[in-house]
Amino acid sequence: MSKFYITTPIYYPSGKYHIGTAYCEVLTNMLKKYHELKGEESYMLTGADEHGQKIQTKAIEANETPKEYVDKMADMAKNLWKQMEIDYNQFIRTTDDFHVAAVQKIFEKFLAQGDIYKGTYEGWYCEPCESYFTETQLVDGKCPDCGREVRKMQEEAYFFNMKKYADKLLEYYDSHPDFVKPDYRKTEMINNFIKPGLEDLCVTRTSFDWGVQVPSDPKHVVYVWLDALTNYITAVGYGSDDKEEMFNKWWPADMHVVGKDIARFHLIYWPIFLMALDLPLPKTVYVHNWITMKDGKMSKSKGNVIYPEQLIEKYGLDATKYCLIKIVPSNSDGLFTPEQFVENYNSDLCNDLGNLLNRTVAMVNKYFGGELDEYQGLENEVDIALEDAVNAAIEKFEKDIADCEFSNSLQDIWELVHLTNKYIDDTAPWTLAKDVEGETEQDKAKRIENLKSVMYHLVATLRSIAILIRPLMERTSDEILRQLGLDSSTITWDSLQEYKELKNIKVVEKGEPIFLRLDANEEIEYIKNLMKK
Ligand code: MSP
Repeated sequence: MSKFYITTPIYYPSGKYHIGTAYCEVLTNMLKKYHELKGEESYMLTGADEHGQKIQTKAIEANETPKEYVDKMADMAKNLWKQMEIDYNQFIRTTDDFHVAAVQKIFEKFLAQGDIYKGTYEGWYCEPCESYFTETQLVDGKCPDCGREVRKMQEEAYFFNMKKYADKLLEYYDSHPDFVKPDYRKTEMINNFIKPGLEDLCVTRTSFDWGVQVPSDPKHVVYVWLDALTNYITAVGYGSDDKEEMFNKWWPADMHVVGKDIARFHLIYWPIFLMALDLPLPKTVYVHNWITMKDGKMSKSKGNVIYPEQLIEKYGLDATKYCLIKIVPSNSDGLFTPEQFVENYNSDLCNDLGNLLNRTVAMVNKYFGGELDEYQGLENEVDIALEDAVNAAIEKFEKDIADCEFSNSLQDIWELVHLTNKYIDDTAPWTLAKDVEGETEQDKAKRIENLKSVMYHLVATLRSIAILIRPLMERTSDEILRQLGLDSSTITWDSLQEYKELKNIKVVEKGEPIFLRLDANEEIEYIKNLMKK
């Protein structure tokens, strides 16, 4: 059985998670479920990045110890992921004992083999990003990652000799075209960071103590990125004596999903750390774009933040997940607007998909008392065209997932939804159902067979749609299958091939709408008000 190990970034527990953070989690879980449906053994890792100055400051502000603070935040994160039905396999915290011990071992190993050396650091430090920058990296004198103020700092520190690995990294990029997706992120790394000369990375701090202590020099704590990035290996057993088998099973990861702001850490420092550990590199690092608002980044001070639970409470889990994945293209940021959210809901979910199911269930009931025996093999042009459209949609969907074109992969499904709605208009079942004056018994039988074939194709195509949306919208998928009278517990990706094998179909007597139409103006106002809270 092949395996699929996928990770999210470990999030800073610095506040409530907004829809941007949730995006990453939803996307990763969608991919995990997709691979699971394909019969692969999957493992999804998520967690919290709990050390560092910023967290220490947050705890002081909250009048708590850092540990109390991060415990509370980890519970908050786990509750949110539970509410969002994210079925991760492990939630790692960088304060976990096994992780701390492994980071200490890794640090001492690097020190012993000469990859880490002691020096003095002077540079421009961005506190929120916990990153130092050189003068040339600053943008208008501010942090190139977040645009905030930086200040000059100097301290005794340990450094990782990145330069030593620069050529090896470039060679790796060259010989592993799937390592970075999308490709343009690789070009950015080469042009912005590697070609101008890779700076050695400062890997310890003495200015605060909320972190993993360096065993051989206890006044230093390991700087967050070495601590954070290694979570991907310590979680699956690296550095724990009794977990070698687990580690060999899961590592290398198949995919790290990361946002564009942390691309540099995952595409340069992380592979270099792994090279220094003599470990294989992850197969793919997928760098996604951001969800942005009309006035730029989401931020509390701008009053434009949306939290996932606010959307879920009002519009449901699946609609929220659908809209998040749909709005972020692979080549630019995705704009969240209340107008677009309501439009996606009403048009894609309620009209296109919801009505297709409703019409189908109603017609099967009306024309055949809710029952269809089996595929008739009646090969007329429209039916063949629909079967071809189903196969084309599956093929396109799989290609888009493989190419990390996730928003497009939803469009592939909705193209099929549109074509299926059009198939109803083209075949006009209400006409096929009508007796024709003077028709022979033979003609009548043929007409009814035709109608049955249309119904069969609608049910079978909706079933395919339910499977295609399943990795992202499991509840909706279940509900579609339930209304069609099909068993969702036996669904696998391979069952997409059973299009003509459905037998003894019995749809529910009365289909319920899966998405209720929204009053656009009212809901747009409602979402606008959420942002102001
Ligand atoms: N702790 C580090 C990651 C360490 S991974 C070894 C970190 N944490 S974070 O909480 O600041 O960000 C976590 C993730 O959320 C990042 O991938 C970031 O890109 C993502 N997002 C934050 N805001 C976002 C949007 N508005 N839209 C999409 N993703 C967003 O960085």
